[in-house]
Amino acid sequence: MARIGPRDVGKDLSVGEVAARSGVAVSTIHFYEAKGLIRSWRNRGNQRRYPREVLRRVAVIKVAQRVGIPLAVIAEALRALPDGRTPTAEDWRELSARWRDELDQRIQKLARLRDELDGCIGCGCLSLKDCPLRNPWDVLSEEGAGPRLLEPA
Ligand code: FES
Repeated sequence: MARIGPRDVGKDLSVGEVAARSGVAVSTIHFYEAKGLIRSWRNRGNQRRYPREVLRRVAVIKVAQRVGIPLAVIAEALRALPDGRTPTAEDWRELSARWRDELDQRIQKLARLRDELDGCIGCGCLSLKDCPLRNPWDVLSEEGAGPRLLEPA
């Protein structure tokens, strides 16, 4: 990976350079663009060029996705930024505060999954010894689909 030198600052990037620096596949960069998460312009050779700050946007998208924020929610949050600007530190604080409830719920769910991994989760498999006790004859299916003890209604 080529390091950034003084002459690179402010220089727009090709899709390959964005992919190489961000660690995101070229196809994913195109996907993000198709979804309106990032923008490019075309040079005289009709090749896509991205402003360097796209790397920050892609990083925000990647981190948010990694913690489980759906892409549609990320796109909505980024669209809400004035002039479609790249998130600043202040923007990031606001975005993460907005996502905190959702993150807390995910953390609780993961903790439940961790704690219940060797016990019945109410998924309908009835394969464990304690399933007949905790979910006899899959009665929990009446509450809905999925692992009912892990994701109560
Ligand atoms: S673990 Fe699937 S129903 Fe109990």
